Amino acid sequence: MAGDAEAARDARPGLVGLFRDMAANCARLGAPTYADLSAFVADRIDVEGDPDTPSDLAALLAPYADARIGDMVPLRFFAAVQRLALARQAPALALYYASLGGSPPTTPAARDACRVALLDTVHTHGPEIASGLRMFPQTNEVGRTAALLAVLREISAAWHLPVRLHEIGASAGLSLRVDALADAGVVPIERPGAGPAPVIVERVGCDIEPLDAATQDGRLALTSFIWPDHVDRFERLRGALQVAAEVPADLVAEDALAHVRSLQLREGTALVVWHSAMWMYLPFAQRRAILDALADLGAAASANAPLVHIALEPVSEAAGEQHVFHLEVTSWPALGEVPAGVTVTRATTPPSGLPVRWAVPCVGAIVHDSSGRLLVIQRGREPSRGRWSVPGGRVHEGEGFAAAVEREVREETGLDVAVGDMVGAVARSAPDGSTYDIRDYRAHVVGSPQPHAGDDADDARWVGMAELRALPTSPGLIEALGDWGALPTAP
Ligand SMILES: C[S@@+](CC[C@H](N)C(=O)[O-])C[C@H]1O[C@@H](n2cnc3c(N)ncnc32)[C@H](O)[C@@H]1O
Repeated sequence: MAGDAEAARDARPGLVGLFRDMAANCARLGAPTYADLSAFVADRIDVEGDPDTPSDLAALLAPYADARIGDMVPLRFFAAVQRLALARQAPALALYYASLGGSPPTTPAARDACRVALLDTVHTHGPEIASGLRMFPQTNEVGRTAALLAVLREISAAWHLPVRLHEIGASAGLSLRVDALADAGVVPIERPGAGPAPVIVERVGCDIEPLDAATQDGRLALTSFIWPDHVDRFERLRGALQVAAEVPADLVAEDALAHVRSLQLREGTALVVWHSAMWMYLPFAQRRAILDALADLGAAASANAPLVHIALEPVSEAAGEQHVFHLEVTSWPALGEVPAGVTVTRATTPPSGLPVRWAVPCVGAIVHDSSGRLLVIQRGREPSRGRWSVPGGRVHEGEGFAAAVEREVREETGLDVAVGDMVGAVARSAPDGSTYDIRDYRAHVVGSPQPHAGDDADDARWVGMAELRALPTSPGLIEALGDWGALPTAP
């Protein structure tokens, strides 16, 4: 999986492919103006790809002919052009940019005029765009802090400690003002009842190329990477820049791994390491090293000096799937019922972070009999209908996780169980587009061990390893059980 994602990011589909991909992403994410312009650029460079007679556009983009998907050339191109529009140097194009008060082109005639305006801008400002193309994408989307604040409230409720907030890949550090952004109404307050507002005593961000939001260049860079149709995002950025001018934060030019390795716990404070929309830029070895460094630090954490890792990152880097972000939380020591070091998926969001869709709490039961066989059921409902899995289902309103495990096992297999510790968690897509946050608990049978399928299970039985492997199991089941040391020990 990791290798596939790295391969996807490193693929070099050529400029035409890159701009077609951009067009599809823009169409999917409600940005029709860029969708049309991206498709137009793809068509133009496709037709004009003859190196002997390059057009302005083809000549400008030629140095990037072999770019990787991860180089994000189309984003950089449109940002370079939008910087000109923002600086009032591309008035004909600005007429179509909602970000500049223009009207997105909706008729064929307007689309043609917008395309011509793009070509004219490229013709007139080639050298500036060529230089602007070198700037790596820098968005600082504070909408992503809505989910962060809800988790910070839970942390405050759990430990009653002030928070030291450290963000890796912080860009201009705007998200470090998470509490003030909510207070100012720039970002909506999610789950206000989740706990008391956090007291943030330290706000530190690191970035390999930090932007200074107090400077004109910094503001221009941040603004230029927002897609012109996303007017709400421009509004949010405007509000965030105002908040940032009032609430100080420290921003250091430092690599994410170096920063995490430099962190130390401090008694009487909760250390929160947060990041969003930056993980995909890190090589896999570096991601692993950051997670290892956090686990090492977490090993020394306590209820008076806890560590929490909160990430809002795309669930997959495969083409077409980068637009679903997962909010993942890992804490040391245990946070609520979740053991130390176990990562739980709490919500999904679009890339802008809003709206937050909270995951549906679910449980799974890992039950072994005295000979080491595992209790499995054949699912009678979607997802994975007809496949075999461990018993489990949704946690009912007001029901605890352990009570849900007991009830689900009884309903699906007729067996009574005593519930033990949570051993792990997985996230699965639900048929309605939401996400199941499935937490798996160990349990053992008290009473008769003879299962009888019931409720939404079509069959229930004890299996050894060979039978488990032979059954059509739900995706990821055997891998997850293997990771948790929970596979049947019976052959
Ligand atoms: C798309 S921006 C996201 C910024 C911010 N986290 C947000 O969600 O609004 C990604 C940021 O990650 C930074 N970045 C990329 N690789 C990095 C690394 N190895 N260490 C630190 N920052 C990095 C980039 O410079 C950029 O500012």
